[in-house]
Amino acid sequence: MIVRDETQADIAAIREVVDAAFPGPAEARLVDLLRADGGLTYSLVAVEAGRLVGHVAFSPMTAPFRALGLGPIAVTPDRQRTGIGRRLIEAGLARATRDGWQAVFLLGDPRFYERFGFSVERAAGYTTPYAGPHWMVVALGGEPLPTPTGEVAYAPAFARLDG
Ligand SMILES: CC(C)(COP(=O)(O)OP(=O)(O)OC[C@H]1O[C@@H](n2cnc3c(N)ncnc32)[C@H](O)[C@@H]1OP(=O)(O)O)[C@@H](O)C(=O)NCCC(=O)NCCS
Repeated sequence: MIVRDETQADIAAIREVVDAAFPGPAEARLVDLLRADGGLTYSLVAVEAGRLVGHVAFSPMTAPFRALGLGPIAVTPDRQRTGIGRRLIEAGLARATRDGWQAVFLLGDPRFYERFGFSVERAAGYTTPYAGPHWMVVALGGEPLPTPTGEVAYAPAFARLDG
């Protein structure tokens, strides 16, 4: 299995994987909206024997420091729980660290994301409509976040989802 950047030729297959992984169409639409806005800082795909089996999006956030939002992330249902999600997240975090991003936020199940260093506790100081028990952050590059509080917002495509 390899993890690489998306290409134009992957777009339909990404839509299929995201659609299959989530109960509704919102997440696949979000990926398309982010792409149309130039908001896909990283769009990584996992490919197994030529088959696209996973995808993760990272988009820029408005925050008091350089932060990305992780999501959506999707693995095709018949390949879930085989380590593909982990590989996508690790590849994205490594890339973000190398490129000088200071933090990654996400909304997700802490039982899955804590293993990558994401923390609900550390995210609690950042104001957002998504704050709550699934709102998490990880600091990158071995540095603590420059400020423990502040306003944080996802890329505009997230707010356009219902529109
Ligand atoms: C969440 C998702 C991306 C994880 O990818 P994956 O390739 O299945 O995960 P991995 O195989 O790398 O990791 C498996 C581990 O994650 C845990 N895990 C996977 N999905 C989980 C979930 N929804 N909640 C809690 N833990 C989860 C498993 O228990 C497993 O842990 P273990 O090995 O300690 O038992 C994938 O299951 C998926 O596409 N789910 C549907 C879409 C979704 O919910 N996306 C996340 C919200 S944005």
